[in-house]
Amino acid sequence: MNSASFDFAPLLRAGLPAPAAKWNGFPRYNFIGGHNDADLVPLDRLIAAATTVLQREGSTLATYGMQSGPLGYRPLREFLTAKLKRSADIFCAADEVLITSGSLQAIDLVNGVFLARGDTVIIEQQSYQGSLTRLERMGVHAVGIPLDTEGMQMDALARALAELKGGGIHPKYIYTIPTVQNPTATVMPEERRHELLRLARGYNVPVFEDDCYADLTWDGRRPPAIYALSRRGGVIHVGSFSKSIAPALRVGYIVAPWEVLARMLAIKTDAGSGALEQMVLGEFCPNHFAEHVPQLTRGLRVKLDTLMDALAEQFGTSAEFAEPKGGIFLWVKLPDVLDTQKLAQAALASGVAINPGPDWSTDKAYGKSRLRLCFANPSQAAIREGIATLAEVCRGEFGVPSRIANVERRARA
Ligand SMILES: Cc1ncc(COP(=O)(O)O)c(C=O)c1O
Repeated sequence: MNSASFDFAPLLRAGLPAPAAKWNGFPRYNFIGGHNDADLVPLDRLIAAATTVLQREGSTLATYGMQSGPLGYRPLREFLTAKLKRSADIFCAADEVLITSGSLQAIDLVNGVFLARGDTVIIEQQSYQGSLTRLERMGVHAVGIPLDTEGMQMDALARALAELKGGGIHPKYIYTIPTVQNPTATVMPEERRHELLRLARGYNVPVFEDDCYADLTWDGRRPPAIYALSRRGGVIHVGSFSKSIAPALRVGYIVAPWEVLARMLAIKTDAGSGALEQMVLGEFCPNHFAEHVPQLTRGLRVKLDTLMDALAEQFGTSAEFAEPKGGIFLWVKLPDVLDTQKLAQAALASGVAINPGPDWSTDKAYGKSRLRLCFANPSQAAIREGIATLAEVCRGEFGVPSRIANVERRARA
């Protein structure tokens, strides 16, 4: 009996998410997802690291956990403790670091140990779609806090905490992406991090700090991690190599006290994250990470400038955006008449993929005329062509931007 003749559908459990779409290749102009720049993956050094580490200790692949135990490859955890101390002021031991299969698994583990259906969490009003959809799927109520140019607004957070407390609700955590926020690319200054901690502590709510893009500030500097500033604990810190090296490696990590990691290990069902990628990073990073990242951010910055120029040229004043402090995304506001979900569909038919704002927001109405563009993966030529095509589609569907405005703008230039 072949599989096509058996109907699995009646056996599927209730409440599954919608089925995944079949992959038909990337769109011609790919501004979605968190892909990186293919030319800036440090291939030669990764190849050399793979060869060296496999020759030296490849036989440890015979054991689950490579003789480093379930927390992950020890040299990689040791690199992380040194790197986090240097860059984020985090002092932690290698046994307070759990290597995960991407930071998505880290998010799942944090959610897995803390959240149950009906719980409430606090989250930035614009946030990572992967985090928002997970909460939705788990039946967890996400209270969105507006952002400004310095990240989550503390007066709004204070109000939300007070209102929740008044309603007898104790939020399970405050989720923040404080360092190069996704999608707004803001960086929360140190004073605001202290204020966040003061509020969190006052209401006895832990902070879930997602530092996925923290290595990608343009000048390589960043404020201390919230984890580092909290003297009394109560912070779980998550990071990733996806944006600093390559997303397909699927290597992320959690920094938390051992008691918390022990609960996470108990629900981490994969018997250890992939060994090869951990070993390669454990070999590559101590020697090359610090040198690689500025090369990467220099390349990303050039692409951002190309994107901002292309938007100014094609959309004129119709496209508003604040210059990102780093990272791989530009968060763009179009005129209110725009519905970026409709725009995304129409644009895709012309080979341009964009992320519509509502997918990145707890407030769908706020997101309606906004979109997120990832500039890391397309070439500079593709960025220019893709934005020109997007403007053409947008003009056809919504009459924005008008050609007249564009000509006037050019005439002024
Ligand atoms: C804020 C944030 N956290 C976590 C992730 C997950 O990344 P990965 O699983 O590749 O580490 C992403 C991916 O784009 C992200 O934007």
